[in-house]
Amino acid sequence: MQHHTVHYVEYPSEVVVPTSETDGNGSVAIRSGVITGDALSVLGDLPSEFVRTVVTSPPYWSLRDYATLGQIGLEDDPDEYVSSLVRIFEEVRRVLTKDGSMWLNIGDSYTSGGRTWRAPDKKNPMRAMTTRPPTPKGLKPKELVGIPWRLAFALQEAGWYLRSDVIWRKPNAHPESVKDRPTRSHEYLFLLTKKERYYYDRTAVPEVNGRNMRSVWDIYTQPFPEAHFATFPPELVERCIKTTSQPGDVVLDPFLGSGTVAAVAIENQRAFLGIELNSEYVGLARRRTANLGSRFDRQVEEVG
Ligand SMILES: C[S@@+](CC[C@H](N)C(=O)[O-])C[C@H]1O[C@@H](n2cnc3c(N)ncnc32)[C@H](O)[C@@H]1O
Repeated sequence: MQHHTVHYVEYPSEVVVPTSETDGNGSVAIRSGVITGDALSVLGDLPSEFVRTVVTSPPYWSLRDYATLGQIGLEDDPDEYVSSLVRIFEEVRRVLTKDGSMWLNIGDSYTSGGRTWRAPDKKNPMRAMTTRPPTPKGLKPKELVGIPWRLAFALQEAGWYLRSDVIWRKPNAHPESVKDRPTRSHEYLFLLTKKERYYYDRTAVPEVNGRNMRSVWDIYTQPFPEAHFATFPPELVERCIKTTSQPGDVVLDPFLGSGTVAAVAIENQRAFLGIELNSEYVGLARRRTANLGSRFDRQVEEVG
């Protein structure tokens, strides 16, 4: 059997993970690392059933141009976008342990109302779009597309268990120059699992009075200095990682961006695998995790 893993890894800190695809002695060495490449093809080369939990945020439909060939998010039609993501998440489901889960953060979009490009704004050059999908068939200009639920239904159909929708409420949401609808100040986070039963520690993130965690999370957005795109607030990632994985487990983010999931995984004694198409962001994520890495190495030695 082919021994995968090692040649992808650029950033080493090794952890030994039991896996069904073994090299003879019941385990395979998975190194924490950031892999440069397209999520679908990288995932296709990974062994099955070694990731305990996934925290990820794919590019939203029609929102940003990440200026990389093969990027997700610029499909002409929301259905095409959803199908591309479903294909990627099928591979994600394969690499999950039987009791594994995925936290999927996804935002919504409006149809463009006929504009096919968007000017850069002074504060955020990443908002410029050289192409913008036209208003898709079946939708009208100015409409909310409903991307999160379209994707959630498609993932259910593909075999995922949709276990929860979480509203991430952003108390510091950007103002919008709209006068005929409420300003959007939330995004969705879906908890999806591979099977009916899965690893979930309800005590990991205690609420006041020991109550069970609620489904509306108030978390301030926090820009990461060198990234010109939206990054995860570490607090949001930490909630997810602590609830659905244990120290020593592997956490995956197939759309790593600036590496928030990698940094939070390391800080919580988890191994991580990150996949990112844009090599500039890979550099960012590696710089961000480099110092944390040595700490993680020591902790792995202690655990193992
Ligand atoms: C919304 S950002 C993720 C931000 C991340 N959560 C953070 O905290 O920095 C989405 C990322 O997906 C990357 N991306 C787009 N298409 C991809 C693909 N086909 N494979 C892997 N990464 C891709 C983009 O370059 C971008 O960095």
